[in-house]
Amino acid sequence: MGLFKKVLNQTRKPEGFLGKLMVGGMNGGHARLADWGMSHLNGITASNIAELGCGGGRNAGELLKLYPKAKLTALDYSALSVEKTKAFNKTMLAAGRCEVLQGNVTSLPFETETFDLATAFETVYFWPELEQCFAEVRRVLKPGSTFLICNESDGTDKTAQKYEKIIDGMKCYTAEQLTAALQAAGFSEIKTDHHAGRPWLTVVARK
Ligand SMILES: C[S@@+](CC[C@H](N)C(=O)[O-])C[C@H]1O[C@@H](n2cnc3c(N)ncnc32)[C@H](O)[C@@H]1O
Repeated sequence: MGLFKKVLNQTRKPEGFLGKLMVGGMNGGHARLADWGMSHLNGITASNIAELGCGGGRNAGELLKLYPKAKLTALDYSALSVEKTKAFNKTMLAAGRCEVLQGNVTSLPFETETFDLATAFETVYFWPELEQCFAEVRRVLKPGSTFLICNESDGTDKTAQKYEKIIDGMKCYTAEQLTAALQAAGFSEIKTDHHAGRPWLTVVARK
């Protein structure tokens, strides 16, 4: 595998030396996208949040600022991401507002109906059997609560199509494909929003 491919494949599951570099870069690299995604949470209340595929943990920290009374559990299947998220949010961890777990969205280590908000930034591209993962997210959400997905790709842009060929197991979804998978998993009131100037996509769904 060439170096470029090796580096890009670290976005799927950061591991080893290259993974360390990648997970360090994710926080800054995705900040503007994530902030735009979080702007869709306006008017949505939350007291117990699951931040899924948390990467470097910056978005977990921003959610804790956005919801100053909430508790948040960040989860990632990469040990490096877990380590980085813990380091990034150490004050919130010490304050008991944040927990960081290693786990896979295919089988979330949470009781049914635990959270009132789940978020997924730049990660659903890598989730296997998307409908089943969405059903798993739905399981851990309380009735009436929200699932927010935010992607840099709307599934139609050329860059994403190039990355799909380079990154093993990556799939960029259109708004229609995400909507269909969410509906199949039992979500309703699904709203999609495209960024005005970029191929960015945010989807908000209700359990
Ligand atoms: C491109 S990074 C995005 C990280 C962060 N959400 C952000 O926006 O900067 C994708 C993250 O999702 C995680 N991930 C991918 N598939 C996962 C799965 N099935 N379960 C848990 N984490 C997963 C990866 O380990 C990686 O940290």
